[in-house]
Amino acid sequence: MTEAGRADGVPAVRLRPVAEEDLALFRRFATEPGLIGLDWTGFTDPQAPARRFALDGWLGTESSRLMVEVTDERTAAGFVGWARRDFGGPTWCWEIGIALLPEWRGRGIGSRAQAMLCDYLFTHTPVQRIQAGTHPENTAEQRALVRAGFRLEGVVRACEFRDGRWCDGLLYSRLRTDPPPP
Ligand SMILES: CC(C)(COP(=O)(O)OP(=O)(O)OC[C@H]1O[C@@H](n2cnc3c(N)ncnc32)[C@H](O)[C@@H]1OP(=O)(O)O)[C@@H](O)C(=O)NCCC(=O)NCCS
Repeated sequence: MTEAGRADGVPAVRLRPVAEEDLALFRRFATEPGLIGLDWTGFTDPQAPARRFALDGWLGTESSRLMVEVTDERTAAGFVGWARRDFGGPTWCWEIGIALLPEWRGRGIGSRAQAMLCDYLFTHTPVQRIQAGTHPENTAEQRALVRAGFRLEGVVRACEFRDGRWCDGLLYSRLRTDPPPP
């Protein structure tokens, strides 16, 4: 699914379901401090990804993941994920996230993959809103989100505890009715 051949120097990527051979990558993110970047919150159960994969292939109604694959090299550069966020009553939206391996960062893949994920979610689910949070010091993700068609909504104060302290976050969103990224 969702493939993009590129003439702009960005490696062509596709989003595909998680496969058994991807579990080693998820174990690395769970056990290598800092590999996931600012979202590192300490060691987590390295077997949890295998259990989730066995349950539903990581494609559920509440949360899901897809691999970001560099098509020419048939290698996983990282993954994207999305989870349901409720606003009360019948109203909910998706919140997306992404993590690329360090060797694939800074090459345009993060922007492209998040734009492709929005296309996927707007195509296959009826949501009006997709949101994404990031950290004030994560310039790469802030810019990648804007490139993927997101707009900054504001600062969410003291919303996460990480690295020994409470930190502010930045909230972005893209609506179905927003102009698509170029
Ligand atoms: C954040 C992340 C997804 C961004 O994806 P990426 O492929 O590295 O970013 P891109 O190459 O698409 O670059 C997007 C923009 O950020 C800029 N950028 C890239 N790396 C940067 C860096 N280290 N510092 C500052 N700006 C950077 C690019 O120049 C580009 O800017 P532009 O739109 O003005 O040209 C990726 O770096 C990553 O996985 N990081 C670790 C995990 C993480 O932080 N996930 C998000 C958690 S909220």
